[in-house]
Amino acid sequence: MLPLLPSRLLHLLPPEKAHNMALRLLEFSPLRLRPPALPVRRAGIETANPVGLAAGFDRHGEVVRGLLGLGFGFVEIGGVTPKPQPGNPQPRLFRLAADRAIINRMGFYSHGAAAVAGRLERYRDRGGKGVVGVNLAKNKTSGDAARDYAAVARAVAGLADFVTVNVSSPNTPGLRALQTEGELRRIVERVRRAAPSGTALWVKLCPDLDRAHRMALGEALAAMPVEGVVVSNTTVSRPAGLRSPERGEQGGLSGPPLKALATEALRDIRAATDGRIDLIGVGGIGNAEDALERLEAGASLVQFNTALIYGGSLLPYRIARDLARSLEPDRQARPEAGAPVPAYSSVTPQ
Ligand SMILES: Cc1cc2nc3c(=O)[nH]c(=O)nc-3n(C[C@H](O)[C@H](O)[C@H](O)COP(=O)(O)O)c2cc1C
Repeated sequence: MLPLLPSRLLHLLPPEKAHNMALRLLEFSPLRLRPPALPVRRAGIETANPVGLAAGFDRHGEVVRGLLGLGFGFVEIGGVTPKPQPGNPQPRLFRLAADRAIINRMGFYSHGAAAVAGRLERYRDRGGKGVVGVNLAKNKTSGDAARDYAAVARAVAGLADFVTVNVSSPNTPGLRALQTEGELRRIVERVRRAAPSGTALWVKLCPDLDRAHRMALGEALAAMPVEGVVVSNTTVSRPAGLRSPERGEQGGLSGPPLKALATEALRDIRAATDGRIDLIGVGGIGNAEDALERLEAGASLVQFNTALIYGGSLLPYRIARDLARSLEPDRQARPEAGAPVPAYSSVTPQ
């Protein structure tokens, strides 16, 4: 089958143009792939399989149906800011082809909450029942992050299955400084009040915190009304061994070079939370082995973004299928083992 996202052809274009082209192709995608069911009920959602799309790919909620049709169990759109904003000047997206990685400094380019909510509403009105989350972001010039996150959560109330408080993108000044117990408590309380009771609330952390900070945050988050912690966002570090000339660009690094750091951060948060809160593992996942490693490190669900850019449209299906193949015997033999638990048997309609 001709891949819907022909990565090699798209990569002849500058990164942001290629991405926009990929979105246009997805808009008209006929694919409705259904990997073998590996149902999970964790982190406040019920999904047909534990493999999700991470934030930043469909930032305006334009291609939810097309993405779910690639075989993702769930899709996170955004980051979405309350008011529309243009983000940072271009170029702001860089391919590190030799490392199969990306550096981005998009700076929350967003169509704004009203436009995204309108698209989600149309998706639901047309019968779309897929598991969709919204990554909450703040406007660059806003002085009240909690108010911004709550405003976006309110705009998508009843339309999103989960919302993610993103205090970890590196491209908005001051954002990562919100990763303190006090700030997070204030934000979580406000978003909790804004979102309907059935909406799961996730908090997404950055991988660049030291161990003591991770442990303290994990401990604090376990005591908050939060269903999931996403570990992790992109890194501002530049791990040794990067080969691409673009490695010096400013911004957040994602893809395989982030894998070790994101897994280490996940293990620390897992140790701090000790099963009291569900974890979503993300960062450098590109195949079922990576996904399995993250589940074994304590995640209940996984997400990826960069691998879709390099791996093409069949990758979500393949990862979910291969994961099901490797987990199924294990789950039957030891149903309590592994993070995804058999919780319901229907598959999620798209
Ligand atoms: C171009 C781009 C934009 C992103 N935008 C967001 C965002 O708005 N909010 C967010 O929480 N994460 C954002 N991310 C981070 C991803 O969701 C993910 O956490 C990170 O890329 C690591 O996963 P990966 O290695 O599979 O890409 C973005 C990533 C990329 C590559």
